[in-house]
Amino acid sequence: MATILAIESSCDETAVAIVENGKLLADVISSQVEVHAKYGGVMPEIASRLHAENITIVLQEALIKSNKKLEDIDAFAVTRGPGLIGALHVGMQAAKTLAMLYQKPLIPVHHLAGHIYANEYIEKLTYPLLAVVVSGGNSEFVLMKEEMSFEVVGQTRDDAIGECYDKVARVLGLPYPGGVPIDRLAKEGHHTYNLPIPLKGEDTLDLSYSGLKTNVINFVHNLEQKGEKVNVADMCKSFQDVAVGELIKRTIKAVKKYSVKKIVLAGGVSANSYLREQMKLEMSKLNVDVLIPPLWCCTDNAAMIGKVAEKLYDKKVFAPLNIGVDPNWEISNYLHFE
Ligand code: KG4
Repeated sequence: MATILAIESSCDETAVAIVENGKLLADVISSQVEVHAKYGGVMPEIASRLHAENITIVLQEALIKSNKKLEDIDAFAVTRGPGLIGALHVGMQAAKTLAMLYQKPLIPVHHLAGHIYANEYIEKLTYPLLAVVVSGGNSEFVLMKEEMSFEVVGQTRDDAIGECYDKVARVLGLPYPGGVPIDRLAKEGHHTYNLPIPLKGEDTLDLSYSGLKTNVINFVHNLEQKGEKVNVADMCKSFQDVAVGELIKRTIKAVKKYSVKKIVLAGGVSANSYLREQMKLEMSKLNVDVLIPPLWCCTDNAAMIGKVAEKLYDKKVFAPLNIGVDPNWEISNYLHFE
């Protein structure tokens, strides 16, 4: 075991964590959400610039909180992908520079592996399991037969579920990130709008959220053209029932297909209260155990990157200093750095 400093900068959070022998010594996050909220979504250029401005401040704070010096660090870990290319580069350059300067290994971590292993701050994962990874950029079912083995068995064919929440929120006049207000308002609304079911009748573990998003947008615009207004709470409820309902339907299918008795939720959308509640309910009917991350590690953070880095450190999975970021890194390819 070792002392590892982990950096996360794949989207709109600049984060640094320090972990030592499985213990989280510091977990510092600087969120850009308020800046991007003005634009209704993440502006990649602004994200990169803010990461560059904040990275050293966050780094310094993590060192102070953990009472460590850079000389005490045994390895530098960083999110290599997937994510926004410019944003990823800031974290990667920082980690490479530190690894070079202090002559310590560089550990590249897959962002979604981080989201999955964030659950280990609650309990150790047992295998086989199905990870339901739902975030602003990804929606996928990952079958894990053993530790650090990832097989994508289903995924979105177009938009991620979080992106869909954010775009639907925007057309309904709700603030970014849209998942939070939709989750809240859906509790006050009724399922009165009939939205078409994506991939209806298809025997697949894939998901699709682009059509659902477009349907809501068109529906709202059509009403506006007639001088009418959508009932926002009812639309939130109608939309969420379909968005989460489809995810749960496919999860049930995957669980049966691969005979797993354990699922874990991962990623920002796993903060959704309706998803958490319905997933537990439906899985209990199948005798499947559900592990749900606490809210503090649903959204992006570096603690989850540190958790994976510890496993890679033990396996001596280190990268050369000429490694680049990979905005589209496939989780099943996490050992390939070319
Ligand atoms: O994992 P994350 O912080 O960033 C990515 O790596 O993408 O996820 C952010 C996404 C956003 O799309 C946000 O709207 C969504 O997670 N989200 C939610 C909720 N809280 C955050 N979606 C649905 N319900 C929520 N309560």
